[in-house]
Amino acid sequence: MDIKQVKTLEELQKLHTDTFGKNGTMTLRLKGMKDLNNDARAALNTENTTLREAFRIRQEELENSEMLAVLAKQKLDAAAPVEDREQKGQGQLHPLTYALYEFTNIFESMGYGMRSGPEIEDDWHNFGALNFPDHHPARDMHDTFFLQSGDILRTHTSTVQIRAMDKEGVPIKVFAPGTTYRTEMDATHTPMFHQLEWLHIDKNVTAVDLVDTIKTFLSLYFGTTDMPLRLRPSYFPFTEPSLEFDMQWDKKTGVIGTGKDWLEVGGCGVVHPNVLKNVGVDPALWQGHAGGPGFDRMIMLKYGFNDLREFFKGDIRWLKTNGFSIEGAE
Ligand code: DAH
Repeated sequence: MDIKQVKTLEELQKLHTDTFGKNGTMTLRLKGMKDLNNDARAALNTENTTLREAFRIRQEELENSEMLAVLAKQKLDAAAPVEDREQKGQGQLHPLTYALYEFTNIFESMGYGMRSGPEIEDDWHNFGALNFPDHHPARDMHDTFFLQSGDILRTHTSTVQIRAMDKEGVPIKVFAPGTTYRTEMDATHTPMFHQLEWLHIDKNVTAVDLVDTIKTFLSLYFGTTDMPLRLRPSYFPFTEPSLEFDMQWDKKTGVIGTGKDWLEVGGCGVVHPNVLKNVGVDPALWQGHAGGPGFDRMIMLKYGFNDLREFFKGDIRWLKTNGFSIEGAE
């Protein structure tokens, strides 16, 4: 049978076995090779190679056309409003999008307004204004993507603190969920990830408000009444004191808000006077707190996802089983 006539991968597989399998036609001929003269051997070798290559090419062609057939069936109008698509059973909210609705509800209920900033940033907004001196080792902790223009991909959402205060001044009470980038990749890190920044500056805002904010946020997000917290001293150039906050959970059962284990959530602190000075705010009059946990892991934990990479594959089939209905988000 001519390989080109084969119409399906199964047929091709069968023909392959008939040819190269244990008792395949080519296998048997190759076994008899020792009885052939040199010319005949060379000819057989060439035939063998050509045939294998023909199989490989046909396999690729068939795989491609089967994939195209599958894709054609999944026809999706990506430009249609998401509500329309969902009504047709075509679309759902990505867990990340859904989390944005949840975070927005929670932070707005605490009196924070949403802000955003660009993902391509300059050194000043990502580092300088946040009190990272030039050549300071703290910059090394941010494995930065540098662009040829000299700009960078923002390594954290703390950039939005600077942009928001530059624009609006103080008092200010804002949150900024967004995409961030670092050159890291392993089972729990991807080069693209997400952070949720908040910033609250006023005349009488203190570290007590900071703890209250974290506790309220985590309790509301994870549906507990009073999330047990652990605060550990840390270092960030843009806060003083700087803290890492952990929440309680049970590693074995995955239960959150109780148990003997602590899960690291993110960094926070009291905004450093130099940061306020850098945006023209007098630190003798104004003070406040900020934080910026990564939230991909929070979503994974809340909904039991165990591979972060699935979030970013853009696979519509994964989304169909793991996406959220629009109604739930309203
Ligand atoms: N931007 C920090 C990071 O990516 C996290 C952080 C720490 C944000 C302290 C803050 C803060 O707003 O106050 O590691």
